[in-house]
Amino acid sequence: MSAIENSTLAIVGAGSVGTATAYAAMIRGVARHVRLYDIDEAKVQAEVLDLAHGSQFTGATDIDGGADLAHVEGADVVVITAGAKQRPGQTRLDLAGTNVEILRSMMPQLLERAPEAIYLLVTNPCDVLTVAAQRVSGLPPHRVFSSGTVLDTARLRWKLAQRAGVARSSVHAHIVGEHGDTEFPLWSAATIGVTPLLEWERQGQRVFEPRELATLTDEVRNAAYQVIAGKGATNYGIGLSAVRIVEAILRDEHAILPVSSVVDDFLGISGTALSLPSVVSAGGAQPVLTTPFSDAEAQLLRSSAQTLLSVQASLGV
Ligand code: LAC
Repeated sequence: MSAIENSTLAIVGAGSVGTATAYAAMIRGVARHVRLYDIDEAKVQAEVLDLAHGSQFTGATDIDGGADLAHVEGADVVVITAGAKQRPGQTRLDLAGTNVEILRSMMPQLLERAPEAIYLLVTNPCDVLTVAAQRVSGLPPHRVFSSGTVLDTARLRWKLAQRAGVARSSVHAHIVGEHGDTEFPLWSAATIGVTPLLEWERQGQRVFEPRELATLTDEVRNAAYQVIAGKGATNYGIGLSAVRIVEAILRDEHAILPVSSVVDDFLGISGTALSLPSVVSAGGAQPVLTTPFSDAEAQLLRSSAQTLLSVQASLGV
């Protein structure tokens, strides 16, 4: 793994998510070289040109790309955003058949050009795609994982910070499980500062009563649907989330982020990918095996896994 000074981030897919990721990567200076690849040559060239025109106003990052897979050559991190996107009313899991096929054909070609890379799946359903990518590539689970619930966790923390009246960085709470309709917050271990979230008070009143927790869970689960209904896609939030993960990898941060990787006997769950708080570094992502779950939360995780395993079974993943 090269240091961030000479690092290459390759982004596969120049749609709204891939380009938002490239834009965020340039602005945050996350890698020295950003490469954008897409099969649509006119589109990817136009996007690269547009980004390059603005590059005078970002840091040292250079941007290049095109419809030739050579652009992925030697990348340290490959972010995969290519595939069909959710239309209003569709769930992420509705995309599984189409996007697993696209991924299966693409993964060996990417691996040939970037054999040392860490692979970050962003395309939905990202958990199912992570399992497919891991199986087709034969890479160890810590080198092929997805953005999972990093964005959902950011959505949750943004809301909790507003309700609690504190900075987002002082909220320690995670969404885990599927990046989708069965995801859920780990309320039992959540804290604000060092105060258990459930005990947080404002003007002498508990803020997070059961009804409020249920509302927050629903709001986070439905956040993407709300954005898709209004603008046809989500892109800025996920682009920034993907770049945050890339940053943790390229800076070898060992930051704890809820990415999704294939689990092996976590609370008895195996054979699927789920988001769990994971240590993200230059070596990849390792779930924190001691993450505390209440009995009810463990049950929710098992049912989230069950949903994913049945979609996988229907597709032979
Ligand atoms: C979202 C998409 C990326 O949650 O699944 O915005």
